[in-house]
Amino acid sequence: MDFKQEIKDRANIVDSYMESFLPGEDEYPEVIYKAMRYSVFAGGKRLRPIMVMEACKAFGGDWEKTMPFACAIEMIHTYSLIHDDLPALDNDDYRRGRLTSHKMFGESMAILAGDALLHHAFETMAKACVELNDIKYNKAMLAIAEGAGVHGMVAGQVVDVISEGKEIDKDTLDFIHKNKTAAMLIGALKSGAEMGVACDEDIKKIERVGELVGVAFQIQDDILDVTSTFEKLGKPINSDEKNHKVTYATMFGIEKASKIVEEMSDEAIDILKSMGGDMDFLIRLTEYLIKRDN
Ligand code: FPP
Ligand code: MG
Repeated sequence: MDFKQEIKDRANIVDSYMESFLPGEDEYPEVIYKAMRYSVFAGGKRLRPIMVMEACKAFGGDWEKTMPFACAIEMIHTYSLIHDDLPALDNDDYRRGRLTSHKMFGESMAILAGDALLHHAFETMAKACVELNDIKYNKAMLAIAEGAGVHGMVAGQVVDVISEGKEIDKDTLDFIHKNKTAAMLIGALKSGAEMGVACDEDIKKIERVGELVGVAFQIQDDILDVTSTFEKLGKPINSDEKNHKVTYATMFGIEKASKIVEEMSDEAIDILKSMGGDMDFLIRLTEYLIKRDN
């Protein structure tokens, strides 16, 4: 089967579980549930939940039990995109080919929809931890919390914001990528591995894979911002230039940046190959991520 189709099949599974974890739209006050659903069901690739499920499977775990955690990480990802698009941050009007949350529902409701998704993610995970009553699920929640939190995605976003319009060096740029983007991918892979049966050494290795794949993913994102089209990305291109952002693409040029992406994913694949468990899907996912065009 075509790998894109394999991703799509898994994304459909994520969506059906997501439907069961999110409140319906007919509850009062409807507008917040509508705003949450508008962004969650906007056609995201569901990469982070797929990483949770597949890391768990690779280490011999029961993927169905990961679904509250897989959906929660997508809720957190969605909140971060809603807030990132706000006028006070990147001030973007389009995301995934549709108007951004604040353009649809107004700024106050977009802020609240982000807040609501973040809290609902933790409510969903905490409920599952209580029901499943096994410490490995608490560890999975912790991995996701660390990825999203102030020592992860939020720290990266902070440095991204304070660096805007400034000449930053490679270390600062790497800090941004490692935290803003890679931390959530590390959280996804680590939480999945925790819900399987991974030894400490493999957990360490999977964290490094998440870091490499995450940084490579972000560099690829920056390359696409220059080389792709609105139609393919579902958002305007050249937004980094508009926001005076230094990226790997502006620092090293497209060719060198692409080479770095390739080297990082090769290293990630080598580590995956060195691990116990069936890493086949994660290897193919890594290859797919560097070749993606959206
Ligand atoms: C695209 O993911 C998203 C990224 C590359 C990460 C960007 C990170 C932020 C905007 C952090 C924001 C943080 C805060 C605290 C506001 P994707 O290609 O998987 O997108 P998709 O879900 O649309 O497929
Ligand atoms: Mg931003």
